[in-house]
Amino acid sequence: MGQTGTTIECIKFADDCKPTAMNPINRKVLTLDEFTIQQLRNFPQATGELSNLLRDIGLAAKRVNVEVNKAGLVDILGDAGSVNVQGEDVKKLDVFANNQFMGVLRHGISCAGIASEELDDIAIFDDEISNQSKYICLFDPLDGSGNIDVNISIGTIFSVYRRIGTKGEPCSREDFLQPGIRQIAAGYIIYGSSTMMVYATRRGANGFTLDPSIGEFTLSHPDIKCPSDGKIYSVNHGNFFQYGDGEKKYIDTCQKKNKRNGGPYTQRYIGSMVADLHRNLIKGGIFMYPGTTEKPRGKLRLLYECNPFAFILEVCGGRATDGKERILDIIPQELHERTPFFAGSTLMMDELEQCMKDH
Ligand code: AHG
Ligand code: MN
Ligand code: MN
Repeated sequence: MGQTGTTIECIKFADDCKPTAMNPINRKVLTLDEFTIQQLRNFPQATGELSNLLRDIGLAAKRVNVEVNKAGLVDILGDAGSVNVQGEDVKKLDVFANNQFMGVLRHGISCAGIASEELDDIAIFDDEISNQSKYICLFDPLDGSGNIDVNISIGTIFSVYRRIGTKGEPCSREDFLQPGIRQIAAGYIIYGSSTMMVYATRRGANGFTLDPSIGEFTLSHPDIKCPSDGKIYSVNHGNFFQYGDGEKKYIDTCQKKNKRNGGPYTQRYIGSMVADLHRNLIKGGIFMYPGTTEKPRGKLRLLYECNPFAFILEVCGGRATDGKERILDIIPQELHERTPFFAGSTLMMDELEQCMKDH
């Protein structure tokens, strides 16, 4: 990986979580830290910077989780009285989450800077240690935040790249404007009926459920694979008459008796892409946020919403496009650019593409 147009070749997941005489750690209680450290054992040349980074992200996620869980109890709900760089309402928890992820990475030693949905420009951690770090991160600190005050699942999305600039110098915008295919890792945290962190590298994708009794993310979904077919389609039907003919045709196909896959399919749309995509990743399905006549580029942001999910889905065997091009091949022009987004099980993506081609 590393070049536009190349495929993600998954290195076979090292099944070293099973307890053996040499490695007596019980798979059932393997924590995120234990898991990333075990992965390091397979790569003696690795520096451990990525493990540090994931641990930092896990720590911030736990802090955000605590606040999300008491959102109905404390006065942390409601508008923060400002709008974000895209003119949308910023909830107090968005700001809190942004500060947590930024804080933990600024104080850590593995990240040279971040970009976030909540920040107009990149934040460069210009200090001696950060300038030596290999990685930069992009975040949607709180995704689906419109759902917070009605107790519906929300999430965090992140993406990790190796810097292209010179080590020792501060990071720059070019480090953040790399195509998604160059991601080193991507993941999300879902604050749902349980809290989970899923992250993918080229070695595979693994899910860790937060065990509240020990306060640790614990390996619960090893080596996640997206079923090649599914029966769930997720789209905002309210925008139907603003979609293009190809999308309308596909939605029509989903709603009809479908010989190929025993349709009609089931429509599920939460309005938190983390929750919608997490379900479809596990059960199989397709998620769509097309462009509309009002917003031809749709709503979702390429760098910190679509690219991380495109990477995770591809690692798990699924696909993601903007309706024409593979998401991971798009060369970003701006930090906050938007793109139409279609992602999910390969056979459903094929079906969608056929409809788009016919129109
Ligand atoms: P955010 O809360 O970070 O702004 O993102 C919300 C996104 C995404 O999670 C979801 O799929 C989509 O907005 C829902 O948008 P619509 O209400 O337009 O369908
Ligand atoms: Mn979002
Ligand atoms: Mn957000």
